[in-house]
Formats: sequence, structure tokens, C-alpha cells
Amino acid sequence: MSFPVVRHRRLRRNASLRNLVRETYVTVNDFIYPIFVAEGINKKEEIPSMPGVYHFSLDRLEEEVREVVDAGLQAVLLFGVPAEKDAIGTSAYDHNGIVQQAARKVKEWAPQLVVIADTCLCQFTDHGHCGVVEHDRRTGNAEIVNDASLELLVKTAVSQAEAGADIIAPSNMMDGFVHAIREGLDAAGFEHIPIMSYSVKYASAFYGPFRDAVHSTPQFGDRKSYQMDPANLREALREAESDVQEGADMLMVKPALAYMDVIRMLKENYDLPVAAYNVSAEYSMVKAAAQNGWINEKAIVLELLTSMKRAGADLIITYHAKDAAGWLK
Ligand code: PBG
Repeated sequence: MSFPVVRHRRLRRNASLRNLVRETYVTVNDFIYPIFVAEGINKKEEIPSMPGVYHFSLDRLEEEVREVVDAGLQAVLLFGVPAEKDAIGTSAYDHNGIVQQAARKVKEWAPQLVVIADTCLCQFTDHGHCGVVEHDRRTGNAEIVNDASLELLVKTAVSQAEAGADIIAPSNMMDGFVHAIREGLDAAGFEHIPIMSYSVKYASAFYGPFRDAVHSTPQFGDRKSYQMDPANLREALREAESDVQEGADMLMVKPALAYMDVIRMLKENYDLPVAAYNVSAEYSMVKAAAQNGWINEKAIVLELLTSMKRAGADLIITYHAKDAAGWLK
């Protein structure tokens, strides 16, 4: 027998052979594109730390929606940047809140486009936390109270569904949010609306550019009492398990790149669709390096997205979606 005994390179000799044995594909159907909608008029403002991503006011939003549809994308994730914030995030569950108005408009312009609403309070609270804050009378310490926050999150989800959101995506990391929102949606006649739960959301430094974009950096403290410790893997199973029990329709892992092991673990343990959130700083790092001419942006982005799918993601929420859709055509 000749040496080497095993010749792996036989199947890599040309592009056609490689295509025959390719295991993972990324397609435009995998993508969810986040859009930031801001109050005000005639606004299309680039987010400084996220080149190519903008704040749109409602009157400029249609151009963006047309681009998204023309790119062949199926779904958008709406984030609101309200003009007014208060302690209990009133504008998050206002019938005429910025997300509710945007959802109605997008469904009018593009009825077939799947509109996903992020359900959280942090963009809408003046303290920037994802729930209701209470101060301990004796110590003065601030506490993000779980159950009182749930009531407001349910109101938010129902108002988003009333405005036409096709999927509710709660990102607040309060305990019991899937159960509470499921009950609230069902009671309001939205039993057909799925919940894409941010099941495993880490307290990550990779959200920095997003928080700049929506001005949601906590005014005091951090999110570590509700978002997960990046050091923990088994805890991710407990988070996912409770969401499954509570009726989640899809599970999400966030961020994506440094958490591929978590994506793989959920994929192996559950049969619900798994979404990966390729978050803001993951995007900004690639953009910064590309703008410096240090990397090949197209090749890097397609490799990253393919790797998320290889890890087990069925869906990818990504700011690269429009570009990637173009490259994949
Ligand atoms: C709201 C929310 C955040 C992101 C999505 N939804 C920020 C946070 O938890 O601080 C981050 C998205 C990104 O970084 O791209 N809770």
C-alpha cells in the first residue's frame, strides 16, 4: 500500500468536487435584519460605531424596507429609539409607540415581510434597565424587580402583536417571561403568534455599539443580575429548558461568535429552531478591520455566517444581512 494511506485531498481537487461534499449552506432565508426606528422626522443617521447601519424616522423607513425586500430578505427585527423615556418605560407599551407605529407601517408596505418585535424595556426606561427598578428603603440599593417587570413586558408584547408584529422576541431575561407573555398573547387572541425567546443571553461587552445606538446603557449598575455570566454553559441548559417548558417556539443564543459551543449545545438538546444573534460589536469589529483594509470583508462575513450555521444555528440575526444577501445572489 502506498503512503499516505488516506488522501483527504481527493475530494478537494476542484470546485465541483468541493460543492458535492459541502456540508453547510447559508442562504438569504436564514437571515433576520435588525432595523432601528427613531422618533422625529427626515432622519437617516448612521450609527457611528456601526457603519452602514442607520436610525430611520418613520417617514424615511419605507426606503429601507424596500431595500430589504429587494435584497430578498424575509424578516426584520424592529428596535425603537423613543423620544421620551421614563422610569417604567411607558413608550414601550404605548399603542402609538415608535415600534408599534413602525410595525403597522412595515406590514402596510410589505405584508409578506416577517416583522419581529424585540420585547424589552431598556430602550424606553430612563435608567436603562430591562425591568422595573426598586430601591431598598434601608440600604438604598437598586433592585430590578422580576414580577412587576413581567406585567409591563406582557403589555409591551400584546401592543406589538396588536400593531401587526408576526413574532414576539422577548430579550429582557426576567424569569417567567415566556410563560407570562404566552398567557398575555393568548388572552388577547394572539395564540397564533410565536415567541422567539432570547433564552440564553449573556451579560456581554459585545452589546456596546447597540447601547450607544439606542442610548440604553444602564445609568447605574450593570445587567449581571439578569443576564448570564459568560463563564457558564450548563446554566444555559437550565435557561433553555425553562423556556421550552413555558412554551417558547424558538430559542436564541446571544451573542454568537464567542458562544458557538452554546449554539451547538442547544441544537443537540432541543428540537426547536435555534437562532443566533450576531450582535453589534461582532459587526463593528469586522467593519473596522475591513475599513482599514486588514481583512476581506465579504470572505470573512460569509465564513462567520457559515460557521454559525455549522455550529447549529437555524436562523441568524445579523447586521450583515443586506450585504450578505447581495453576495449570495
Ligand atoms: C435589549 C437588547 C440588547 C440587544 C438586543 N436587545 C441590548 C442589551 O441587552 O443590552 C443587543 C443587540 C446587539 O448588541 O446587537 N435588551
